[in-house]
Amino acid sequence: MKKIEDLNLLNKVVIIRVDFNVPLDKNLKITDDLRIKESLKTIKYCQDKNCKIILLSHLGKVKTKEDLETKSLKPIAKRLGELLKQDILFIPKTRGLEIEETIKKMQPKDILLLENTRFEDLNGKLESNCDEELSKYWASLGDVFINDAFGTCHRNHASNVGISKYIKEAGLGFLVLKEIENLNMLINNPEKPFVLILGGAKITDKIKTIENLVKKADTILIGGAMAYTFLKAKNLEIGQSLVDEDSLTYAKEMLKKHKNIILPIDHIIAKTTDSKEYKITDTILKDYMGLDIGPKTIELFEKYLKNARTIFWNGPMGYYENEQYQTGTKELGKFISNLNTNSIVGGGDTATCMIKMGYKDKFKHISTGGGASLEYLEGKRLPGIN
Ligand code: 3PG
Repeated sequence: MKKIEDLNLLNKVVIIRVDFNVPLDKNLKITDDLRIKESLKTIKYCQDKNCKIILLSHLGKVKTKEDLETKSLKPIAKRLGELLKQDILFIPKTRGLEIEETIKKMQPKDILLLENTRFEDLNGKLESNCDEELSKYWASLGDVFINDAFGTCHRNHASNVGISKYIKEAGLGFLVLKEIENLNMLINNPEKPFVLILGGAKITDKIKTIENLVKKADTILIGGAMAYTFLKAKNLEIGQSLVDEDSLTYAKEMLKKHKNIILPIDHIIAKTTDSKEYKITDTILKDYMGLDIGPKTIELFEKYLKNARTIFWNGPMGYYENEQYQTGTKELGKFISNLNTNSIVGGGDTATCMIKMGYKDKFKHISTGGGASLEYLEGKRLPGIN
């Protein structure tokens, strides 16, 4: 594994894979730019080496033609330009003559951002299936490749793994190296008790990680949408809550085997995700869905967190998109921020929330990766790193 400082960058055309998969509101305004800010160190370092810089990133999942309107990287180019105080060249394409001609004309330190790499997924999932021809094409645009997109290191895609196979030199950027250093602290020798908090809606992605993490952590607190799959596995009523039916048997097994998995004991429930009316109950009613953990659960979770020496938190405790259901996430954030402990938070929404609350410096590390940080922690070899 080569590090950015081992690469021969002087006067080269460098391709940097960044993770600009940032949250956007309905008006396509960026609501949290942590991932953009964290990529600046690598970009500036390449500018100091007089490189021409080509940036590649995905934004969300691209499945339909409508996604081409809402998942363009254009607003990101603007924000990056503001942060660097420099015009960013943006071409709303992922390949073609215009890109090749532009690169030829670029001056050292110029930055070109190409369009969302996953626009290539509309055409047979070329990016996500690590298509060989696409990988070769992107690799042909530069001399050196730097992977600085920690958030996608668990994906085997053309814009990370693919390019690195077909380019002369490849290595890892500062953002990825910082993530590895911080997460290694959890893997190698976490101070005990080690408490893991899991939440969020990407249940299928995350649920299988529990098996490995349950051995590393002393306690696993489960909130957010993931909790409802576990509650259903215990034959409890979950009403209309989000559930991963395919993982029910697995969840049952986990609960039988491991007594250190702690689930919510009360809930904030409503009939729809945008309804103004909600109730706080110990059990979820049939016509309702669970949208946040309740006050008794917050108290219960805090009891475990109080004595923790290491905390890793991935995923919000409720339906974070609606402010009404952010209480669980915010309360736990406030509590952890006052503890003198090694705490790491990972994943887009949870990280955004902690930054907005002004807790950035209260955590030992805020990871830019959700799924990637969990898989790394599990001890898996991530394709984007290897
Ligand atoms: C993330 O937000 O976790 C990363 O950008 C990866 O996104 P993905 O889950 O769509 O691959």
